[in-house]
Amino acid sequence: MLSAKIAGVGHYVPEQIVSNNHLTAYMDTSDEWIQERTGIKERRFADRTGETTTTMAIQAARVAIERAGTTAEEIDFIIFATLSPDYYFPGCGVLLQRAMKMKEIGALDIRNQCSGFVYALSVADQFIKTGMYRNILVVGSEKHSFGLDFSTRGRNISVIFGDGAGAVVVQPADREGQGILSTHLHSDGESAELLAMFNPGTHANHWTNEPLASFDEAPIGNMFMSHQMIDQAQLYPTMDGPAVFKKAIVKFPEVIMEALNRHHLQTSDLNLLIPHQANLRIAQFVQQHLKLRDDQVFNNIEKYGNTTAASIPIALSEAWELGKIQTGDLVCLAAFGSGYTWGSALIRW
Ligand SMILES: CC(C)(COP(=O)(O)OP(=O)(O)OC[C@H]1O[C@@H](n2cnc3c(N)ncnc32)[C@H](O)[C@@H]1OP(=O)(O)O)[C@@H](O)C(=O)NCCC(=O)NCCS
Repeated sequence: MLSAKIAGVGHYVPEQIVSNNHLTAYMDTSDEWIQERTGIKERRFADRTGETTTTMAIQAARVAIERAGTTAEEIDFIIFATLSPDYYFPGCGVLLQRAMKMKEIGALDIRNQCSGFVYALSVADQFIKTGMYRNILVVGSEKHSFGLDFSTRGRNISVIFGDGAGAVVVQPADREGQGILSTHLHSDGESAELLAMFNPGTHANHWTNEPLASFDEAPIGNMFMSHQMIDQAQLYPTMDGPAVFKKAIVKFPEVIMEALNRHHLQTSDLNLLIPHQANLRIAQFVQQHLKLRDDQVFNNIEKYGNTTAASIPIALSEAWELGKIQTGDLVCLAAFGSGYTWGSALIRW
């Protein structure tokens, strides 16, 4: 069976830098609180009208495609991971296909939030292994700034997230032992509501059993979006931060060790761990727990915040540009997020 390699990496972050101090103009928070709890100093916000999740993805994709030594016309499948799509439907994959003038290839959108990129990479890996495709574009992109609650009510979430995009091109490996060694995907929906954006949606409070205040007034259907949702700020993401933190620090090390154990490797064999940039404190906990040196872990959350599906490919691209990933290196990508879903990918570069 063919194995798959990452042939090219690229990323794009918007120009607009938003510091922690900048956010204090809108909510009761402080640079000190944000840095102490999350490690974030600043994040990027997309141009409000000039940039979308898809346009940022295109910028990242162009770089990845060029570095892979291929062209947009040669891409034979698109996998697009995001939780902040341009449209509720259709997905961003087709918008990218159209804008990049690609052939009438398949375009798959992945909705796995913070672990979206690892899930997407796993799908690409399987398609390459079976010989179905030979040149797959995998992107993660987010325009969070458009959908966050920037009042004090939403501060536990809105200070964490930032915008950006990352992309890779996945191709058959050139030699034995090179490329994606394995991917490991997991989910546990027990706590699905602890990190979620409920509306607009078709749930009608089915899963939470909360009363639907305006149900009686609604005509047939029409509960997808209501004035009440807007009035009561129910169109924003919600998160039980401490619960997410507690689960993340268990599942990150578990899924990293699962990948290493599969290949009878040790943490000392790892050249670089790129954890999803959720919170620097989570990454530090994982590093300590696995007894990894500083040079074995790559973090850039202080500059970009949490960019969800984009965080791993942005970090991968930056690490590669900085020369931190060399041919033959053992690289592990690991993610955890809403769902909960989590996963890892172990790669021999
Ligand atoms: C969100 C997170 C940073 C909050 O840190 P925390 O130490 O757990 O803080 P808590 O939520 O317990 O809140 C502590 C206090 O800070 C306050 N607070 C929350 N956000 C704040 C902000 N931006 N600025 C100032 N104060 C804030 C809370 O209101 C609370 O005040 P109270 O004690 O008076 O009620 C942290 O829980 C976290 O990072 N969790 C993981 C989230 C994550 O990674 N999500 C992405 C998915 S992978």
